[in-house]
Amino acid sequence: MKTEHAPTIQRTDYAPLAWTVRRIDLHFALDPQATVVTSRLACARNPEAAPGPLLLDGEALETLSLTIGGLDPAPGAVRRGETRIEIDVEGDEVELEIVTRINPQANTTLSGLYRSRGGYFTQCEAEGFRRITWFPDRPDVMARFSVTLEGDKAVCPVLLSNGNLVEEGDLPDGRHYARWEDPFPKPSYLFALVAADLVALERRELTASGREVLLQVWVERGNLDRCEHAMESLVHAMRWDEETFGLELDLDRFMIVAVSDFNMGAMENKGLNIFNAKYVLAKPDTATDVDYEHIESVVAHEYFHNWTGNRVTCRDWFQLTLKEGLTVFRDQQFSADMLARAAGAEGDSARAVKRIDDVRVLRAAQFPEDAGPMAHPIRPERYQEINNFYTATVYEKGAEVIRMLHTLLGPEGFRNGMDLYFSYHDGQAVTCDDFVEAMSEANGRDLDQFMRWYAQAGTPRVAARGGWDAADGSYTLTLTQHTPPTPGQTEKLPLVIPVAVGLIGPDGADLPLQLEGEAAPGATTRVLELNAESRQWRFVGLSAEPVPSLLRGFSAPVILELEEDDARLAFRMANDSDAFNRWDAAQRYAERVLLELGAAAAEGRALGVPVAFVEAFARLLRDDRLDPAFRAQALALPGEGYLLERMQPADPAALRTAQIYLGAELGRVLAADWLALTEGLVEPGEYRYHPADAGRRALINLALRYLCAARVPAGTGLARRRFESASNMTDRFGALAALVHGALPEAEGALAAFYERYRDDALVLDKWFALQAGAWRRDAGATPVLERVRALLGDPGFSLSNPNKVYALLGSFFRANPGEFHLADGSGYAFWADQVIALDAANPQVAARMARALENWRRFTPVLREAVRPQLERVRAAEGLSPDVGEIVAKALE
Ligand code: ARG
Ligand code: ZN
Repeated sequence: MKTEHAPTIQRTDYAPLAWTVRRIDLHFALDPQATVVTSRLACARNPEAAPGPLLLDGEALETLSLTIGGLDPAPGAVRRGETRIEIDVEGDEVELEIVTRINPQANTTLSGLYRSRGGYFTQCEAEGFRRITWFPDRPDVMARFSVTLEGDKAVCPVLLSNGNLVEEGDLPDGRHYARWEDPFPKPSYLFALVAADLVALERRELTASGREVLLQVWVERGNLDRCEHAMESLVHAMRWDEETFGLELDLDRFMIVAVSDFNMGAMENKGLNIFNAKYVLAKPDTATDVDYEHIESVVAHEYFHNWTGNRVTCRDWFQLTLKEGLTVFRDQQFSADMLARAAGAEGDSARAVKRIDDVRVLRAAQFPEDAGPMAHPIRPERYQEINNFYTATVYEKGAEVIRMLHTLLGPEGFRNGMDLYFSYHDGQAVTCDDFVEAMSEANGRDLDQFMRWYAQAGTPRVAARGGWDAADGSYTLTLTQHTPPTPGQTEKLPLVIPVAVGLIGPDGADLPLQLEGEAAPGATTRVLELNAESRQWRFVGLSAEPVPSLLRGFSAPVILELEEDDARLAFRMANDSDAFNRWDAAQRYAERVLLELGAAAAEGRALGVPVAFVEAFARLLRDDRLDPAFRAQALALPGEGYLLERMQPADPAALRTAQIYLGAELGRVLAADWLALTEGLVEPGEYRYHPADAGRRALINLALRYLCAARVPAGTGLARRRFESASNMTDRFGALAALVHGALPEAEGALAAFYERYRDDALVLDKWFALQAGAWRRDAGATPVLERVRALLGDPGFSLSNPNKVYALLGSFFRANPGEFHLADGSGYAFWADQVIALDAANPQVAARMARALENWRRFTPVLREAVRPQLERVRAAEGLSPDVGEIVAKALE
């Protein structure tokens, strides 16, 4: 585990292995500290590869025996290294038997086989299987698995693995066993086992072709009343994939298991999805609307992987976006369809709200990544530690790239491409080229230039210029693209960028679009393809100068540079027929105001909010015809991370001053409107997770935020009452957050009451930690958040070994609270370094995620930069630093 020696893996170095595995027969004798794993491998020479030895990967294994064809190996035939075994084999087939001993109890990395709350669980993606047994642990080796689990019946009454249960029974000494067979060959990263004391919510469903399947959601006893929503989500996902892509569940049983200790969100192991409990468990008293939404999308995401990831998998880890980008796109479409269906007549607005959510995530997480030292194409060219590349770029930008294909080819063309992809590659481990080629062939369209999206890092800028010719009623739109250089990639070539365009007339209505040379006007939104550095389009037949509405629906993951004065932004805020762009106009206007306020704060000038902005904002606030969920989005100010990225130099303290000031002003000046809004909205009755209800709750919670920010007495009283009398977590937590961010005197008592009520509920306590770590502070005299976070590390409900706790407390502070984390005296950074080093000793993946909080440090003010550097250097020099954290800090310091 030494940084200097972590080798860099290059994408172009890929070569197939000389030997592959056809079948693997695994036996686990489960024991807390000495689990014995017996693995029988049927290996075969790969006719497509150059001849060579049989290669096996291993990590942290104690090897008890290795036999070849039932015999001890011939002298010199086996070369053993720390993480690699090479075996020279004669002939074309061979059987190996390997016995290893592992210590799940001591496995704090949560990769491989580990323990959580008395049970045994696995996580093998990307390279965890090698921590269980010796194996060619890469995704292009697809084997048929059979698995026997044997364990103590009292400790783990439930024994699960992939595929179908074929046998089970009791053994002497209170032990029992179960044997599972997975009919589908799979790579080792999709292997899973669970052995624990769990109970299941069960349901039987028929697939489209009429096969009966058993669905199970496995949880700890006592959580059975929190599984219904996950089960519903699973059934919806099954139906959706059948209807949308003609894809059916291929197994007789499909299991979801919730586990409390988990590095990521969830994992798509074949037939046995393992989930972070936070993406399974929900009931109205403990989960917010947003939690319900996330559960639906994560359940769907993992389910969709069964085809996009499992049936067709990745040839190597550079192709990760092949499964992740595509599957995120699928879960986004699914969620949009679910929301639209529930919203009925308001379906289009519900879809736009979902799109806004997705774009917020992209801008907050992926844009900064693409502008920093970790910038990489959605298909990276090199990595040191693959776990560092489960990134917003691979996932979220990857999904945007798939979305652009969907836009360019249309829904039918896209579906045809998917069908062809499966017809060619079912059962294979393939590349992103294979996917795009299927799309290309199915649509008779050359996508060579499009492939550049897979190769180029950085967020492209698209500059737009409009020219109005009153004499002939034409409007000429010039679009120019430019991608700034990224580390190791200075030259950028023009991409294919679909730009959805509308033109708005002076009365606010969309104009029918007619391009020069066309016979008649057509649709009011159309997609232009910017496929060169610069292109021009001339719209004709216009009677007055139009206002352009560009990149509608966020048709490409780019930064649109469009000169618009305040009046034009206000006009689009009021009129743009594209709900996404209407929201975006509000965001752009707010960004302009906030950045100006931030600059004023940094320079010590007086602060003031432009009246025209308040008026435009108030018009949205007062427009009852707008769907509440949309209004909640449009009235929420842009995120801090996104704004800091656009601030030159980034000055978190000044920006925070600006945010507090603007929030309080909008609360104060519009207090009557906010109060009227909370009274005017029909309060949803008994809690149900439904987009219409959720939208109303979100808008009321937003109103409370503004009212509390302004300390309007009627508003703070309302927040307190709602906190006390809430019938569900969305209302209760919304009111609490308003009190805390408003830094109101009532906040402390409310936090204490919340703690009392939920002290035994780990998932709810995560919200309590996150809220305090992310809190805004209004008075310089108040306790710094840093001190509070430090104190909370000692709370009995906190644990550094539980990733959810770390993300809630430290993640929220480092990543979601820049205004409090970036202290000029560097004390925040010293604390960061201490925590990263401490975490790294136990769990490098979690430590690396926390380490990333400072990667964009060079964008900050000189004072902050000077304070960051020594801490980055301290982490880099730490004894025994993992390759995970080593790669991050080395890149940050490069
Ligand atoms: N494939 C999983 C998902 O996106 C994520 C697994 C992440 N694993 C990791 N080691 N980073 O659904
Ligand atoms: Zn995924």
